Amino acid sequence: MQYHLTPDYPNVGGQEIKAASKVIQSKKLSSFSGKKNTQYEKELCNYFKTRYAVAVSSGTSALHCALYATGIGPSDEVLVPATALVLTVLPILFRNATPVFVDTQKNNFDFDYKDLEKKITSRTKAIIPVYLWGYPIDLEKLSNLAKKYSLKIIEDAAQAHGSKYQGKNLGTIGDIGCFSTFETKLVSTGEGGFVLTNNDKYAKKMKSFIRHCMSYKVEQGMPRITFYDVGWNYRINEITAAIGLTQIKKLSQRIKKREKNAQYLIKHLNDLKEISIYQPGNTIDSNPNYFSILIITDDKWGNNKLAKTLYKLGIPSDVITYNYRVCYTHPLFKKIVGHVSTECRKAENLVTRMINLPTYENLTKNDLDHIVTSIKKTVK
Ligand SMILES: Cc1ncc(COP(=O)(O)O)c(C=O)c1O
Repeated sequence: MQYHLTPDYPNVGGQEIKAASKVIQSKKLSSFSGKKNTQYEKELCNYFKTRYAVAVSSGTSALHCALYATGIGPSDEVLVPATALVLTVLPILFRNATPVFVDTQKNNFDFDYKDLEKKITSRTKAIIPVYLWGYPIDLEKLSNLAKKYSLKIIEDAAQAHGSKYQGKNLGTIGDIGCFSTFETKLVSTGEGGFVLTNNDKYAKKMKSFIRHCMSYKVEQGMPRITFYDVGWNYRINEITAAIGLTQIKKLSQRIKKREKNAQYLIKHLNDLKEISIYQPGNTIDSNPNYFSILIITDDKWGNNKLAKTLYKLGIPSDVITYNYRVCYTHPLFKKIVGHVSTECRKAENLVTRMINLPTYENLTKNDLDHIVTSIKKTVK
């Protein structure tokens, strides 16, 4: 039989249809007229245990908001891992700031902390850790460094809904956490995102930024709108917020299903000496959301040869679908940021040896066995 594993996202059904229809019937479609945005943000705060949540139009806009709120602007430098997606880096460019790429560990996405410290200058203002496929990094180490050099931490938790580090939700540990709710994510509204923070000032600035930085006041019985800064329209509509509300309630259950699939794969692949199962770091106390699991090959399988073979056997991997590579090798950076560092050799090597495996909730035992057998047959 020719296999083809099909992702089960977006994971929406009757509850979302009901929630969206109710909003349409109410005819209150924007956050100005309806209450769903406020309810959604309250539910996000409850789930993630933060003081503030702001619903926004995408993960990219979430990062843009966070950079605005923390005052990142022209001539500032922001440290990002070389394995970051371009989507993480674009908002730095929107602020006319400079991304500085930092090397990773040999076998995981955590920063090479020596390289990170070497790249801190008087212009460095923030660090963006990126929790690829939902895995944390050593946030204790990162937080200590950030404190030492007075840097902000803006977490790119776009793929890490419900992942935990030392018992705390990723996206709630730094100054601001940024999430995407694009249709592939574990909380999905089609398009969308949100930011989390415990900081009053940042929350206020982000709420304003997504509404064109305008204030609405009633003076002497008359409405008055005034603009204070260059803001954007990054709001979501009430239908999106209503879908988000149903989705956040499903998150824990979805993680459990993915974990079960992931554990099955790990159990059956663990003994293979030709590959290793991705670990976020030996000393890291983590509970990932099992958005995916990753395997790391040795150099023999460089250029993602194994991922390409698996793809042909019907096992999709993001590293193929998204042509995953070190960020600064995209032509964009030659064009715009001519002088970015291209000295991240470990990251360059890592991206050619890692493969993420599907953990979709709809996978059957047959599907999981197909993944295991295909990998075993290919590497042996
Ligand atoms: C790690 C990471 N950062 C940022 C983004 C951007 O999110 P969005 O596509 O919602 O703008 C994504 C989305 O795929 C992502 O995976």
